[in-house]
Amino acid sequence: MTTPVSRRAWLRTTSLGVGAGLLLPNALPAATPDGVLAAPDLEAFARAAAVRRNAGGPVRLASNENPYGMSPRAKQAMFDAYDEHNKYGSPAYQELKRAFAKQNGVPAECVMVTQGSREVLCVAALAHGIKGADIVVANPTFEALPDYAAHMGLTIHDVPLTADHAHDLDAMAQRVTNAVGLVFVCNPNNPTGTLVPDGTLRDFVSSTAKRTTVLVDEAYHDFVTDPSYRTMTDLVVKGENVIVLRTASKIHGLAGCRIGFAIARPDIIARMQRFTTGVPNALAARAAIAAINDTEWPRFCVQKNTEGMAILRNAVAALGRKQTMSHTNFGFFHTGRPTAQVAADALAKGFLLGRAFPPYNDWVRVSIGTPEEMQAFVQLLPALVRA
Ligand SMILES: Cc1ncc(COP(=O)(O)O)c(C=O)c1O
Repeated sequence: MTTPVSRRAWLRTTSLGVGAGLLLPNALPAATPDGVLAAPDLEAFARAAAVRRNAGGPVRLASNENPYGMSPRAKQAMFDAYDEHNKYGSPAYQELKRAFAKQNGVPAECVMVTQGSREVLCVAALAHGIKGADIVVANPTFEALPDYAAHMGLTIHDVPLTADHAHDLDAMAQRVTNAVGLVFVCNPNNPTGTLVPDGTLRDFVSSTAKRTTVLVDEAYHDFVTDPSYRTMTDLVVKGENVIVLRTASKIHGLAGCRIGFAIARPDIIARMQRFTTGVPNALAARAAIAAINDTEWPRFCVQKNTEGMAILRNAVAALGRKQTMSHTNFGFFHTGRPTAQVAADALAKGFLLGRAFPPYNDWVRVSIGTPEEMQAFVQLLPALVRA
């Protein structure tokens, strides 16, 4: 797809506007006969990025990465920021905070930018558990927070998912006592990809936040296409005791650059900020600003993800296997064989798959790669799945 854009718009977003910057061949616009610069061909840029990321190794379907990586504009912005690499105190950090706040309709003082959103999970556990408070989480869920809290010696209350693989919010509410300092809800959940219906989650978060702090992990927010889904950021704006997590790793393809976000009341941000271990990388912040200001690339990536998800979902259904309704960039399904064996067999055929998520020991999580990668992967499925 080639989209004409004005020369001025491109000069603003590429190093052509700042003199002798570093120019990236596959990010450069081509001139059209009428002198209007055309945006790069996203399909071609994406194809090249997808080939590079596997770099002769297995196809990476293990860590829910964006197979296409960062947008051409983000890539160019990172190169344009080259001269910031040897300076402390880049203004990029504050600019990123403001850009993210504007994008999400929240005040900038409610935003903290971190070194990947894993840091949000760690500093939330530290800030709310340092005096020995307990933590309530679903099981299985993304383990970074409970694992970190366990290393701190905190008591973790694991609440099993329901039979249909959803958060058991009633059971979680029952575990909230005066000893609890933090409740973690991942929505959509990792590894199941399931969504808690909006009203149900909103009621749970609001009522629980009257008793303790609730952290809602929305790492996969941008992949959700279900029209009933809503973020919980409005609860923060209302002043509730809520932290919302987001990341630039997934939709913006910046996993290796380490940029994450917390949205919370300024007093909660200040409490967590004390525990951060540094500030994000300036070049990564520049890429993230450009990524946030680019609406075309996320739309492209969501479209491709939807195509890849359909290929996996249909193939799993054709084999009659149980699978969750995932609203993310990964699928989760029953193979009937130990996850490690399935992963080893897949690796032998050139595909890297996700780790095990007990007690789902005979299920596997498969990240959505490009549609072409998913077409190749599903050819293997009958052999990976016990008949
Ligand atoms: C639910 C969830 N939250 C947070 C993260 C951490 O992501 P990052 O530290 O790359 O922002 C991940 C990573 O896979 C995740 O799945």
